[in-house]
Amino acid sequence: MPAAPDHTPATPSDKRSPALHSLWRLRRYVRPYTGQLVGLLIAAFAATGAGIAVPLVIQQVVDGPIAHRDPAGLLRLGALALLLGLAEAGLIFIRRWAQSSLAVGMEATIRDDVYAHLQRLHVGFHDRWQSGQLLARITIDLSVIRRFLSFGLIFLVVNSTTYLMVVALLVAMHPPLGLLVATSAVPLFVVSRRFTRAYLVASRRVQDEQGDVATLVEESAQGVRTIKAFGRRRQMTDRFAASAGQLHDTAIRKSRLLANTSALFDLVPNLTLAVVLVAGTVAAAHGALTIGELVAFVTLQLMLIWPIESLGWIIANAQEATTAADRVHEVLDTQPAITDRPGAAEIVPTDVTGWLRFEGVSFSYPAATRPLLHDLDLTVRPGETLAVVGATGCGKTSLLSLVPRLHDVTGGRITLDGQDIRDIQLGSLRRVVGMAFEEPTLFSMSVWENLTLGRPEASEDDVRTALAVAQADFVYDLPWGLETRIGEQGLSLSGGQRQRLALARAVLGQPRVLVLDDPLSALDVHTEALVEAALARVLRDTTALLVVHRPSTVALADRVALLTDGRITAVGTHSELLATVPAYRALLSATTASPADAGPPPALPTTAIATAPSPATAPSPTGPTIADGTSRTVATATPSTTAEKGTGNRGLVRS
Ligand SMILES: Nc1ncnc2c1ncn2[C@@H]1O[C@H](COP(=O)(O)OP(=O)(O)OP(=O)(O)O)[C@@H](O)[C@H]1O
Ligand SMILES: [Mg+2]
Repeated sequence: MPAAPDHTPATPSDKRSPALHSLWRLRRYVRPYTGQLVGLLIAAFAATGAGIAVPLVIQQVVDGPIAHRDPAGLLRLGALALLLGLAEAGLIFIRRWAQSSLAVGMEATIRDDVYAHLQRLHVGFHDRWQSGQLLARITIDLSVIRRFLSFGLIFLVVNSTTYLMVVALLVAMHPPLGLLVATSAVPLFVVSRRFTRAYLVASRRVQDEQGDVATLVEESAQGVRTIKAFGRRRQMTDRFAASAGQLHDTAIRKSRLLANTSALFDLVPNLTLAVVLVAGTVAAAHGALTIGELVAFVTLQLMLIWPIESLGWIIANAQEATTAADRVHEVLDTQPAITDRPGAAEIVPTDVTGWLRFEGVSFSYPAATRPLLHDLDLTVRPGETLAVVGATGCGKTSLLSLVPRLHDVTGGRITLDGQDIRDIQLGSLRRVVGMAFEEPTLFSMSVWENLTLGRPEASEDDVRTALAVAQADFVYDLPWGLETRIGEQGLSLSGGQRQRLALARAVLGQPRVLVLDDPLSALDVHTEALVEAALARVLRDTTALLVVHRPSTVALADRVALLTDGRITAVGTHSELLATVPAYRALLSATTASPADAGPPPALPTTAIATAPSPATAPSPTGPTIADGTSRTVATATPSTTAEKGTGNRGLVRS
């Protein structure tokens, strides 16, 4: 199958590969287990051989010791039959033992590969694919493939071999009756072909719908607060019931297909057996067959019932596995859109000065009809803090996401120290660029692990400093301090707590370039001021690009850039822009005039943080010191976390 571009639809179901081709493509996962597989097949064939030999021994018993009343011979052949039975049981045990470890091992390797591939795929892929579909592929589909590899495939090989060997023996024993048994394969073949085609379609539909149901469950688990707050429980339940009902109906149709075909697979061998019994008895009466041969013939024929009866199940299992392999390949075949260019250079963080330039940058999302950003020029000097301001939805977050190459520019280029960032190895670029997002994402691991995500080797002192910068000392009060596991997506914390942890994480990485997307939006004004004061110290040597909504946060920046209609339309200090750019004034004036910005509440002990002495607000090379008209005055007392005090520590566990 050709590699698909990274624009695959959310539930791609129309791409078909020839039957079993997708399964065949998984053969590289079998390679490490070749020895085990060969041993397993030898055990399986030997067990089949032992099983087939038993009826032949019975024939010898009936025509020999029983006919000639020979107790010693009976004992000898009885012992042989017993040994064959024991050997068959032992060999079957070996086969089962080997097949399960082989299949589980392969499933684990495929799952690791799919997961690693998902990590390599760029964010645009994850924007388009429903996470439930990915979840279903990495869990349900892989277990379907495992079931086929551990049972279906082995039974397919063993049962086909058994069928061919037994039919060949029957033809050799009594050609007319043997051929009668052999011709019963014709209706079986016709039924199998029809069933195979119909079942492939049905199983694909069921597996896609399972993904849809998983998506709904995931969405409602994530959005449980919103659902409850809006009283939409009933509607969500109805929506889920509709989707689950559809899956139920499709699954029933699929099961009926199997049930109907299985009935035919049961009927054919039993009908043939009845015909053979009658015809065989007549032949034995005419001396064309000995009684022993008839018994052996019928016993051998009984051995065909299971391989034929199981055929429906095996075909179904193979079709489900083919569909599952198709779905897994749809993910694996998607090529990462953002990769290292050939010859991309590695950069050492200590060598980076921090000149960040946007040169004629344009950017649009794949499905968009017109570019979100175009002809955008902007320079951030080493050590400078530049704030990007613009109306909501104008593309600020998108602009920031271009710096660590979460998305790639669609025109122009971004350079770091004069080098196109696409010519820098992704890994080293992302070590140099630290980012905190608007909606902070935390993982269900300990606070410590969340903090040190970008810098696992960080010392306790580093973590303490980062926490102090982000005013996130609340973590020491959690039940197990930094060892506390903070629950899925950090939902056991308040928005402000999450935001401060994400900020501490970004700061801890000691990036040369720091990209912060409205990092203080969820904080109360006093905590915000404290964070700003500490952040100003950190930003001293760091090139920083901030998205800012509140005028209070603008105080952090040396210069401000106004983003309008996809372009930077003005750059200057806050006061310059306020004085000269009406659009900027209009954007920030409402909040500038708010009492919250005028100063701290009188009750708190205060210290003036002069923006002037702080390096972050030191005179910029282009103009006057930033000032929003006043030196900001902030509390330096213990962090005020009153806004989150009542939050509690829902669902916190020890890591
Ligand atoms: N992943 C995406 N795929 C397609 N379009 C997107 C995607 N993310 C954002 N957009 C669109 O791009 C535009 C800009 O979004 P962006 O998040 O960059 O705005 P913003 O300036 O950060 O807004 P805000 O101030 O509300 O945070 C919006 O119209 C949005 O619908
Ligand atoms: Mg945004």
